[in-house]
Amino acid sequence: MRETPSAICVIGCGYVGLVAAACFAEMGHHVHCVDNDRARIDLLRSGGIPIFEHGLPELFSRHRNAITFTVDTEEGAEASDVVFIAVGTPQDRSGIADMSYVEAAISGLSRTLTKYKIIVVKSTVPVRTSARIRRLLERHRVDPACFDIASNPEFLREGSAVMDFLHPDRIIVGAESERAAQILARVYDPLVSGWYYEQPGALSGPRTAACPPPLLQTSPESAEIIKHASNSFLALKISFINAVSNLAEAVGADIEEIAKGMGMDSRIGSRFLRAGLGYGGSCFPKDVAAFQEDSAQSGVAFRLLDDIRNINESQRTVFINKVWEALWTPRGKRLAVLGLAYKGGTDDIRESPAIEVVHRLLSDGASIMAYDPAAMGKARVALPVSDKMLYADNLYEAATGADAALILTDWEEFKSIDLERLALIMRNPIVIDGRNLYSAATMVAHGFTYISMGRSDASPPHFRKPSPALPARQVLSETI
Ligand code: NAD
Ligand code: UGA
Repeated sequence: MRETPSAICVIGCGYVGLVAAACFAEMGHHVHCVDNDRARIDLLRSGGIPIFEHGLPELFSRHRNAITFTVDTEEGAEASDVVFIAVGTPQDRSGIADMSYVEAAISGLSRTLTKYKIIVVKSTVPVRTSARIRRLLERHRVDPACFDIASNPEFLREGSAVMDFLHPDRIIVGAESERAAQILARVYDPLVSGWYYEQPGALSGPRTAACPPPLLQTSPESAEIIKHASNSFLALKISFINAVSNLAEAVGADIEEIAKGMGMDSRIGSRFLRAGLGYGGSCFPKDVAAFQEDSAQSGVAFRLLDDIRNINESQRTVFINKVWEALWTPRGKRLAVLGLAYKGGTDDIRESPAIEVVHRLLSDGASIMAYDPAAMGKARVALPVSDKMLYADNLYEAATGADAALILTDWEEFKSIDLERLALIMRNPIVIDGRNLYSAATMVAHGFTYISMGRSDASPPHFRKPSPALPARQVLSETI
């Protein structure tokens, strides 16, 4: 017999809050969603979904009777035993996590804490946030018997968020008390017991009733650090392979072969070893910075984190230098930009390497026609309004008449371009691939000059490259 479902409140209806709400409903719970953005709540009430996330619209429509939406925190939290905080924790101007949204959410919640609830922090936060929340509630004169605080970091990735939530590698619960730990264990029981995976219509994936996800109980501080350390470690893998890719290029080796060879060691693993433009998104950049700040504030010099960030930032310059090298100068050139999102599968452009590259090439004098399958609406707001920044309905329109095509996002659609058609419509068949989506042999066979990351440039035999190639920095200074 399964226990009665929990009544859950989720504060913050962004990527994490909406996915968590829909998945909790899928697990059989009742969910009250709160967001202080009235337009967002109105949209959700009318059946719209404000973010692009695979599988999310289907879950919301399947569970519309189990999910409510409100702008009023008291209304949302009143009937709930467990309140998840999923508001943003962006980087503030000095580089540390801006905790004002969490603080506002907790303050709004304090008035409802007249009977026991668990406040669960799902947002990614600095270590000791649980302790700070307790102090804040004490200041609001909330009876300590009326709440417990727990840290339950979220590890979903945009683009595969629903699958990641329902088929997680692990669930971390950092609870202050055994009572809170047990209630949270009940919330996740449909997954941890394997019950969910046997239900008709359950999303199938790597987890099964025979192999359900583990739930690890820790202290709140450990849970908070697990989240920052995990994101920083993944960012480390990416920066490491990018540093190796620069070496590979300098000596004529191939980063794809190197990553494959390294990844065959099961202790290293093959994931997160894709070289390219570096990581972006709303999380890795801010979380590595916040982890560094956390460490510094605790008197620990974690200099490795500096290197991770520096290598990541320099990858964009490595790419821009390739554009200069290929075109002599981007000034007056028409460039097709394929991809604006920070990675394929999402409309999110926060900290997108593609957006930074476009900004820099526009200021270098290029004209751009961009195409992204999902992120163009958001990109139009972030990029300058100019007759040099245009948008296309598809990748072929973007590439027509272009002096070069730049692949900036690893969308599936860009992995299966009709190369014959592309070569015919471009002014110059040059592809500069910041995501290594193609093999040089394939591109050269289709007549392209193909420039990628951590691999030698490749050109068809008739193409004569100016020799010797000028170092990129020299090219830059000579053209200024
Ligand atoms: P988001 O910006 O998409 O959404 C945050 C939402 O919170 C917004 O809709 C905003 O209107 C709302 N909000 C802000 N203050 C509020 C308040 N006081 N009351 C009610 N609503 C409020 O953010 P996100 O990407 O969902 O990230 C949320 C947190 O989860 C961050 O800490 C992030 O680091 C973490 N996280 C994000 C991801 C991801 O893939 N995006 C994955 C894991 C963890
Ligand atoms: C990342 C983590 O993977 C999630 O576990 C975590 O929950 C989330 O951050 C978060 O805390 O918000 P996400 O940012 O959605 O998820 O996307 P990833 O797939 O991890 O990619 C992040 C960035 O790294 C992207 O720009 C991607 O293009 C880049 N990347 C990824 C590489 O450059 N190389 C790789 O091998 C992998």
